[in-house]
Amino acid sequence: MKQDMILILDLGSEENPALARKIRSLGVYSEIHPHDISQETLSALPGVKGIILNGGRNRVVDGQEIDAGKHIYNCGLPILALDHKGSAPLAVGEDGDRQLRSFVFDTCGAEPNWNMENFISDQVELIRQTVGDKKVLLALSGGVDSSVVAALLIKAIGAQLTCVHVNHGLLRKGEPEQVIKVFREEMGANLVYVDATDRFLDKLAGVSEPEKKRKIIGAEFIRVFEEEARKLSGIEFLAQGTIYPDIIESGTKTVKAVKSHHNVGGLPEDLQFTLVEPLKMLFKDEVRACGLALGLPHSMVFRQPFPGPGLGVRCLGAITRDRLEAVRESDAILREEFAKNGLEGKVWQYFTAIPDIKSVGVRDNKRADEWCVIIRAVNTIDAMTASVENVPFPLLQHITQRITNEVPGVNRVLFDLTPKPTGTIEWE
Ligand code: XMP
Repeated sequence: MKQDMILILDLGSEENPALARKIRSLGVYSEIHPHDISQETLSALPGVKGIILNGGRNRVVDGQEIDAGKHIYNCGLPILALDHKGSAPLAVGEDGDRQLRSFVFDTCGAEPNWNMENFISDQVELIRQTVGDKKVLLALSGGVDSSVVAALLIKAIGAQLTCVHVNHGLLRKGEPEQVIKVFREEMGANLVYVDATDRFLDKLAGVSEPEKKRKIIGAEFIRVFEEEARKLSGIEFLAQGTIYPDIIESGTKTVKAVKSHHNVGGLPEDLQFTLVEPLKMLFKDEVRACGLALGLPHSMVFRQPFPGPGLGVRCLGAITRDRLEAVRESDAILREEFAKNGLEGKVWQYFTAIPDIKSVGVRDNKRADEWCVIIRAVNTIDAMTASVENVPFPLLQHITQRITNEVPGVNRVLFDLTPKPTGTIEWE
């Protein structure tokens, strides 16, 4: 292993993720583990140079006094025990900085050797050790996390990986094509592509209640993936794009903060795979850096957030094929124009939605009842609140002109000026 590590043991501090980030920003790798880590787990962790007990000794959590086990205090590694109730947290401020640096570099003698190259090479080694000559399955959505996992596994075990890309018919324009091009053609992955569009749209026909639509899409996705998995023989491992924020429940019951098991997709137990989650210790920006280092295209690595149910929740009410196509085409125009005008990467999330209403308009000198399309462009830190991007008016006019000229059945374009709250980011 190429990296030194500072281990943070979680004694209830809400600062732990920020502290881990801070240590990583010093160039030293850091992980958070539960305060009751076993001796075995501790000794199996590679490169540990020192331990921070964060939250303080005898911190009370859920009415219980907690502390780390005796084996921690006797393990021979330097320990920094913190109880910053009432004092400045270690993760912020100049004093905290100085104290942290001094502990990491002087007391523990850690080397600043945490970088993507070392991370990738350590993970490749770990994946090979874990998987041996067995086969691994991955549901490859084309989102950032699953794409980076795929690239990492291809590098580590190549042909032993099978990726399944389920197209539920609710992806954005060009997405399945990009997944096939990047992974099958350029990276040589075993990629099973399932076009399940008809199956999903049949199940969704006539369903207008948003939560019901979400449930149908989620359940059908698992069913299709499961069917594909059962067709493949000899698979023992399931890879998942779990990332660090998924397993840190920040700010709540931090003693239980680091979960050992995380089944994101809700796949049925009887599939009986062992999980491989090579990104589970990375923050989102680190996942992107890893993707770039593995050679994934910028557009894939810096993709804006896209909901699992996809265009299904942007084709409002009961989904129809004509409106689904209209929302897909108008979204592609919006993305193209934002990219051309320097807004890609600047605006957090932008998309179009299509309501289930027609209005009267004029086309070819005749009255024409057609759909309208709504443009949404928002900025946010955590998606809990959001503000509307101040899109230049001439650009909005240009996009409107393109959508009404190029997208069949659309005669009006609206711009959503509502922040969150009161609106949510998505329309349903
Ligand atoms: P809202 O609409 O709640 O969206 O303000 C906040 C963020 O969550 C995304 N979103 C979803 N993501 N499945 C997902 O994976 C969903 O059902 C879903 N609904 C909303 C939304 O795109 C935004 O980034």
